[in-house]
Amino acid sequence: MTEQDFIPKSYNSTLENGSVKWASPSNIALVKYWGKKKDQIPENPSISFTLSDCKTITEITFTKKESADFSFDIYFEGEKNEAFKPKIQTFFERIEIYMPFLKDYHFKIETSNTFPHSSGIASSASGMSAIALCLMSIEQSLSLVTERSRSDMEESQSYFNQKASFLARLGSGSACRSIEGELVVWGKNESIEASSDLYGVKFEGEVHSNFKNYQDTILLVDKGEKQVSSTVGHQLMYGHPFAKERFSQAHDNLAKLKTILASGDLNEFVKIVESEALTLHAMMMTSIPYFILMKPNTLEIINKIWAYRQKTDSKVCFTLDAGANVHVLYPENEKESILEFIKNELVSYCQNGHYICDQIGLGANQI
Ligand code: DP6
Repeated sequence: MTEQDFIPKSYNSTLENGSVKWASPSNIALVKYWGKKKDQIPENPSISFTLSDCKTITEITFTKKESADFSFDIYFEGEKNEAFKPKIQTFFERIEIYMPFLKDYHFKIETSNTFPHSSGIASSASGMSAIALCLMSIEQSLSLVTERSRSDMEESQSYFNQKASFLARLGSGSACRSIEGELVVWGKNESIEASSDLYGVKFEGEVHSNFKNYQDTILLVDKGEKQVSSTVGHQLMYGHPFAKERFSQAHDNLAKLKTILASGDLNEFVKIVESEALTLHAMMMTSIPYFILMKPNTLEIINKIWAYRQKTDSKVCFTLDAGANVHVLYPENEKESILEFIKNELVSYCQNGHYICDQIGLGANQI
């Protein structure tokens, strides 16, 4: 597939109005995307667990209008929101060529998250993927005229998912990994044949039962605004002294993870996942300008997890996004003991004692 394959020629049906609604989950990267080229092309491949409960629910109501410019309103959790508008405007501009109906309608975008607002959890992955899916449903109703695209749209769920992921990527890179579950790869990598820089693909390799219902408890260490936006963050990799090594390491880690997912070797899983998290932060600490996004409590939690692993034979591990919050990952059979450990030893490091329990999920669904 190339970008051209996502450009429809024309639509064969007209719609005056309508509405569509999708729930789309967040995801947590095991091998991290950090650094991008023009047009949201990643510098290295990444793989993530799709989450189950942390979702954005978005309804788009569309009404036919004179084609002139983009026209939309956004409501976040019931209230009109102006702050999100520039990001959506940019998104529409980027995807217009692939969604030529965008200027023909006024869109009312109503969105809400299942996780608390200002929890410090990035909602761009779930938010952008939910919008992309809504737009795909609208496009599907307009049914394409071109032979190739029409048969693809009607017959192939995989084209729908691919284009939804392709569009979501243009909104926010990591959003392209939120369409499907349970594991999604984004970025061309030799060990994963179907992988692409243009969209995320469901990981079709063997997955050991150790990873079934894998748990992710998100410890909210800092609920404030992100200190470094992802746009600024990715730019830090331009001219970064370790960029080349890092990008090739991500390729190696993804190939290794593929083997680990098949074998179920959780000791090796822990090593890759924690190393990836610390490498991401190491990149931020060694860029110009440099940042430390971990907080003292992030380190306290990491040390507690390491101590717990030493004194038990637990396979619990952590990963981090570009912030201070800690994702605690563990197999389902350790659920009880780890929740006990979290309550007894980690909650005191969370802001207002807040944490969110989630697990690996199956992807977005239409409502
Ligand atoms: C650290 O997807 O938020 O979470 O493409 O600029 O929207 P944009 O970036 P974004 O970057 C996420 C980076 C990360 C790692 C990851 O999810 O792979």
